[in-house]
Amino acid sequence: MAKQDKVGSVLVVGAGIGGMQASLDLAESGMKVYLVDNKSCIGGVMSQLDKTFPTNDCAMCTMAPRLVEIGRHKDIEIITLSDVESITGQPGHFSVTLKKRARYIDEEKCTGCGLCVTNCPVKNKIYILPDEEKIKITLEPEDEEKVKNVIREHKEKKGALMLILQSINAIYNYFPEKILHYISQELNFPLSLLFRIATFYNAFSLKPRGRHTINVCLGTTCYVKGSERIEDRLSEELSIAREETTKDLKFTLKSVRCIGCCSIAPVIMIDGKAYGHIKSREIPKILKDYK
Ligand code: FES
Repeated sequence: MAKQDKVGSVLVVGAGIGGMQASLDLAESGMKVYLVDNKSCIGGVMSQLDKTFPTNDCAMCTMAPRLVEIGRHKDIEIITLSDVESITGQPGHFSVTLKKRARYIDEEKCTGCGLCVTNCPVKNKIYILPDEEKIKITLEPEDEEKVKNVIREHKEKKGALMLILQSINAIYNYFPEKILHYISQELNFPLSLLFRIATFYNAFSLKPRGRHTINVCLGTTCYVKGSERIEDRLSEELSIAREETTKDLKFTLKSVRCIGCCSIAPVIMIDGKAYGHIKSREIPKILKDYK
């Protein structure tokens, strides 16, 4: 093939941090870049990390400028939700066939506001069914009275939904699923909106929680200083695994990534109180104070 036939574009497969940097370098050197990933977004595994080894740099601080630069670069075309099906040709003139999966939205118009999730007619089918076909949610009389009282108290206030959910959380210390369905039914709020709120805030949970929440920091600094051993000891003492609650509903064991107390690592936090420089042997005594 004649040299002038070569195509000045490249395909980068995989939009993790390596693929992103390669795309930027290639685009800066004058190439048209097609950046392909089989996920719905770019960023790869690094976007799920807190810190990176060995420099302890914040992963998002490393990624964010590249994400923005790639999104704005006129010579980089991002192709997500796509798999490479076949490659033919030779160096300088490859043809690649991609299989692109549906995203179900108009990518040109999407601003990422999330309103489509709230208003999804499939997930919220309880609201698009005719009245006679709706499944009527009923609660136990005792629960119904509690929930009705909460609804009555806040219904007319500004930001009623949040106030109602906070009150329900204060009563049950978690959101029983049936109660979320009931609130959605009574107030005509999409169920998906309730689940979004219930799963977004740390203070809320869809699973029963103990009276005391123990957060073990597994952030990089605490991890290096042995917080995993602390977590093991807590698991042993309470006979539960991470994210579980003791049968008597006294303790819930959770893990967090950096609670901003790295100078006293390893750290655990119980109901907002931090215990720093903690040793495994101190665990039984600390737990005793809460029993
Ligand atoms: S890493 Fe544990 S407090 Fe920062």
